[in-house]
Amino acid sequence: MTNQMTITFPDDWHIHLRDHDALKTTVPHAAQSFKRAIVMPNTTPPIKNRQDAEAYYARIQKHIPEGSDFQPLMTLYLTPDTTADIIEDAKASGIVHAVKLYPAGVTTNSTAGVSSLSNLYPVFEKMAEIGLPLLIHGEASDPEIDIFDRESTFIEQELKPLHTKIPTLKIVLEHITTKDAVEFVLAANNNVGATLTPQHLLFNRNSLLSGGIKPHLYCLPILKRETHRQALIEAATSGNPKFFIGTDSAPHAQSAKESSCGCAGCYSALTAISHYAEAFEHMNALDKLEAFLGHYGADFYGLPRNTEMITLVREDWTPPESYSYLENEHLIPLGAKQVLKWKVK
Ligand code: DOR
Ligand code: ZN
Repeated sequence: MTNQMTITFPDDWHIHLRDHDALKTTVPHAAQSFKRAIVMPNTTPPIKNRQDAEAYYARIQKHIPEGSDFQPLMTLYLTPDTTADIIEDAKASGIVHAVKLYPAGVTTNSTAGVSSLSNLYPVFEKMAEIGLPLLIHGEASDPEIDIFDRESTFIEQELKPLHTKIPTLKIVLEHITTKDAVEFVLAANNNVGATLTPQHLLFNRNSLLSGGIKPHLYCLPILKRETHRQALIEAATSGNPKFFIGTDSAPHAQSAKESSCGCAGCYSALTAISHYAEAFEHMNALDKLEAFLGHYGADFYGLPRNTEMITLVREDWTPPESYSYLENEHLIPLGAKQVLKWKVK
């Protein structure tokens, strides 16, 4: 039995840090677990252009702990007003590594997102030309569509036509939750990849809804049935470089999660590595963990792999019940009160 693993320092290809005072908590947590992180732009207000990204980058920098060389990789938020010039200017900044597409209304802070892709094809053409990836929250925005079908519907209605029309555009289908998404990514060319979260690899909709609603497992896209979870864990542990880490760690105060209208998001910045290790071990695939956490994402983004290492040890530990957050608020981590089997030394 493997009891210790020394692996490449992981990156996180999908994280939410929020802004301003939240950064006091989220940035040190991210820097502890990851060398680099793709920072989502769905702040209030969103990060829409180079100026926004540079200012947000500077605010994040102030909270990187001394001695850490954590690197935030910035993204832009695509709106109906995004132009090819905005994209080119952002890329020239050197700090913007991707553009995020939120279909309008599908999730937290997505109202400024996009209702129709058709007007944005010049923007996508420019991104393909300069090699800037499009990161997609792949859910249909029509509120009439059943919440469990929104990912598969989006793939059919929007994503397949987009990939067919511009096959040179690099696309990351973020936080995939269905067998349909796995199949789409496998069938697409090598410009298409996908991120997988710890919660979608470890939990299904029974975990969320059976025996009482667990608000801290509520995220979007919502957890699906077990057959989908199995397709996801098979993809993650297959050794196919199209599938890589993206925690979607998303802080919401405990009071906003445990509410009559609870927010979507799981906070996993400090527990995700342990969760992934556990998920891979269930599949007898610990030998595939390093590349999933530390190689494939960097390769997809065309960035060098990290050279520093971390060591994981088989050791039971229980994450804190909560972390303090903002003024008098708390963040409940994914895995709170559970015994996790792998610990980062
Ligand atoms: O669960 C989620 N939380 N899904 C998202 O797409 C957004 C995120 C957030 O920003 O809280
Ligand atoms: Zn996200």
